Amino acid sequence: TGNVTLDPGFVNTASCSSAITFINGDEGILRYRGYPIEQLAEKSNFMEVAKLLMDGELPSAEELETFRQDVRAHAEMPEGMKGFFKSFPADAHPMPVLSSAISALCTYDTENLDPFDAEQLENASRRLMGQVPVLAANAYRNRQGLAPMQADTSLTVVENFLRMTFADADGSYELDERMARALDMLFILHADHEQNCSTSTVRLVGSANTNLYGSVSAGVQALWGPLHGGANQAVLEMLQGIQENGGDVDEFVRKVKNKEDGVKLMGFGHRVYKNYDPRAAIVKTTADEILEHLGAGDEQLEIAKKLEQVALTDEYFVERKLYPNVDFYTGLIYQAMGFPTDMFTVLFAIGRLPGWIAQYREMINDSTTKIGRPRQVYTGAAQRDYPTA
Ligand code: CMC
Repeated sequence: TGNVTLDPGFVNTASCSSAITFINGDEGILRYRGYPIEQLAEKSNFMEVAKLLMDGELPSAEELETFRQDVRAHAEMPEGMKGFFKSFPADAHPMPVLSSAISALCTYDTENLDPFDAEQLENASRRLMGQVPVLAANAYRNRQGLAPMQADTSLTVVENFLRMTFADADGSYELDERMARALDMLFILHADHEQNCSTSTVRLVGSANTNLYGSVSAGVQALWGPLHGGANQAVLEMLQGIQENGGDVDEFVRKVKNKEDGVKLMGFGHRVYKNYDPRAAIVKTTADEILEHLGAGDEQLEIAKKLEQVALTDEYFVERKLYPNVDFYTGLIYQAMGFPTDMFTVLFAIGRLPGWIAQYREMINDSTTKIGRPRQVYTGAAQRDYPTA
């Protein structure tokens, strides 16, 4: 096998150089293009952060406005996609539907598939930014037995997403500004996280010079896994389970520590953070505020806080440096906003989209990029002869 190093899970192996996101896992620091996540969450907005991630600099007011208008203009779903959602079972999980829809979208945008043509790549990026929330909302409407809806391009991406998701059959919906702002902020927190599983997937698929749509579609599938983005759904199901069993947090923690039936404390632990995830700290404050505003989820929030308190002082978690991650409190917020649990990971996907796009573009424009093709250490049979009769 030659001079090959075995590193399962890429624990010690960098797959690329990147100038997009900085994480210091020991100190709990996260920055996009140098800007601390706390400042972006407080002062910026999702579209500006998307542009910052993709281009490397904050856009001027004019650049941002043009970008916004373009993304909104691209939110118009192709006519042919309207029938697409009906072909899935009525109870289809929206993540595979979203992944399939993104994959299908490239067949409607054949003039923008060359990743080495800067203009085509920019067009495909803006189109995806406009389309993904629309496709996600229509996947949700399909689950409700409602017909797909067209985007209202006069609204912001987040406002339009909320309208399409929650509007009645007759299209009426009253926007809650605070909820829209909270969701916009949560999208900022999810927008990039360097070489996580889904982003690495986007880069790996893209390294074969596969177009942006196909690469992002693969990223959505990677994100769906319960160890990655699917954890936000798993956390809420865990909290519901504890609540249904009488709210005994200590008993649940005992099971986790004994690794009974492989039970994990979902929303805890991270490959890189060995300290409090800075995103979780922001989400926790938001959870308090938005749950009070929407008047929901108190009992589960109490269970979550108690779980956190127990875990942060328990030897098992302390020794292993397990802290709450971004997914620990987000589910409670999404639930209070009215999203069903299986939409939670879709919300993560909408938020992570600019990061996937930015990382794909960085990869494509990096002259050191080679097709991703890991080596292996062979452990199978030595040569042997096929039995003769
Ligand atoms: N509950 C209980 N024990 C845990 C947990 C947990 N959530 N996470 C890690 N451990 C234990 C693990 O069993 C191992 O113990 P031991 O040394 O006795 O074998 C030790 O801690 C080290 O864990 P690991 O599995 O080697 O760590 P990893 O870097 O491979 O995994 C992780 C990272 C996030 C997959 C893992 O912590 C986990 O499964 N957490 C729960 C799922 C979750 O919340 N995922 C969301 C991650 S953040 C959002 C995102 O980026 O998607």
